[in-house]
Amino acid sequence: MAKVKSVYICSSCGAKFLRWQGICPECGEAGTITETVESTAPNAGAKAASRALTGFAGSSGSGITNLSAVDLTSRPRLSSGFSEFDRVLGGGIVAGSVVLIGGNPGAGKSTLLLQTVGRLCQNHKVLYVTGEESLQQVALRAARLQIQSNTIRIAAETSIDAICDMASVEKPEVLIVDSIQVMHVSGIESAPGSVSQVREGAAALTQFAKRTGIAVFMVGHVTKDGTLAGPKILEHCVDCSVILEAGTDMRYRTLRCQKNRFGAVNEIGVFAMTDVGLKEVKNPSAIFLNRQESVAPGSLAMVTWEGTRPLLVELQALCDICLYSNPRRLTLGTDSNRLSMLLSVLHRHADFSLSDQDVFVNIVGGVKVEDTSADVPLALALLSSFNNRPIDKGTIAFGEIGLTGEIRPVPYGQERISEAVKQGFVRIVVPYDNAPRKKVQGVEIIPVKRVSDLLSINN
Ligand code: TYD
Ligand code: MG
Repeated sequence: MAKVKSVYICSSCGAKFLRWQGICPECGEAGTITETVESTAPNAGAKAASRALTGFAGSSGSGITNLSAVDLTSRPRLSSGFSEFDRVLGGGIVAGSVVLIGGNPGAGKSTLLLQTVGRLCQNHKVLYVTGEESLQQVALRAARLQIQSNTIRIAAETSIDAICDMASVEKPEVLIVDSIQVMHVSGIESAPGSVSQVREGAAALTQFAKRTGIAVFMVGHVTKDGTLAGPKILEHCVDCSVILEAGTDMRYRTLRCQKNRFGAVNEIGVFAMTDVGLKEVKNPSAIFLNRQESVAPGSLAMVTWEGTRPLLVELQALCDICLYSNPRRLTLGTDSNRLSMLLSVLHRHADFSLSDQDVFVNIVGGVKVEDTSADVPLALALLSSFNNRPIDKGTIAFGEIGLTGEIRPVPYGQERISEAVKQGFVRIVVPYDNAPRKKVQGVEIIPVKRVSDLLSINN
């Protein structure tokens, strides 16, 4: 007979406590510890998975073997039908892998998965389990998205045990669970969505995927501050964690890979939300760039690197006289600490001070840039806004700035330059060490060594 007891679990890091506390001693987050009723039934989640395993050839997989003897050829990656989605997953869906798809409500997670199912089921067996919507709602959506639904297998279910049972009878190649937050595991008393339910549910599905070779997609909702509910817990056990983000421009959605055991992280795929669902954007650089004839002061294009490819985006900076004692430094889409550092470097090493100015920085299109190659374009945009002089049209920049005022090379210099040339840029500001040895026809390459070199570019 299982015993039931109250424990207090931090929803951010998953640490367990016997008493409630305001601040989690493990991760330092405030207000994240909540009471959860937990059953002490031995490993209820694992039981749910193992119960459903009978009948699979791969289920005896606990034996020891030579790594070289593992058969790799028998399981090629499946294509999701979306080349952008495949690339984010590292080249397609790996059999037996667990993919977590996170995102805000309304980001389009269910839409993306239903469209994926629609394409996958042409050649593969897929089971779509919905816990949030009724079968009618999904059918209506499928009809609206013009998905051929006669081969789509679907079930409305919220019990992980029942899902595992169903999947072991149905034997699909891909199982979709929408969403993990509404699922419950028997033997655990707490409510669906609580940390222990989410953790055990995800663990059961992961075990199930590993033993049976079924690829599992789990939808996970994101909390207000942009993290997945129970983030550490979910991200630890899955193979691949992708986030579907809706930028400030609601038309576009970016699918970003945060963790991938089978490919590059930080890979992004761009989709446009239309009245018939998500459409891939094959050339994302083109949508984030300003195609107007004139260029305003403070605006500059830059080349960042996302996962395995370059992405061209527009960066805007605005300097304005500060009316209060504390000048404001506000960034959207880039790191504000990096901006503060850059302002100090510009002051010390280029004699360019913005200490009496409010500074605002924005990456157009709601793109998030974490690449340090944004330093040089940011410095140039600040100079341009302060001087109220636009940077010549057709100019693009990339490069990292060090604390001693040096401009450092960044990886994939050549590829970034090629992409910029492909998009029609004719003047490229690059770190000296990234400058190509051969001249590029019709393109002016401006190599820069120190931040002080940037001053002359906007003159
Ligand atoms: P949905 O997939 O339900 O979001 P999630 O599962 O992430 O919560 O997407 C809902 C949003 O997508 C909603 O704001 C409406 C929009 N949408 C379209 O614009 N066009 C469409 O064809 C569909 C199906 C949804
Ligand atoms: Mg949904």
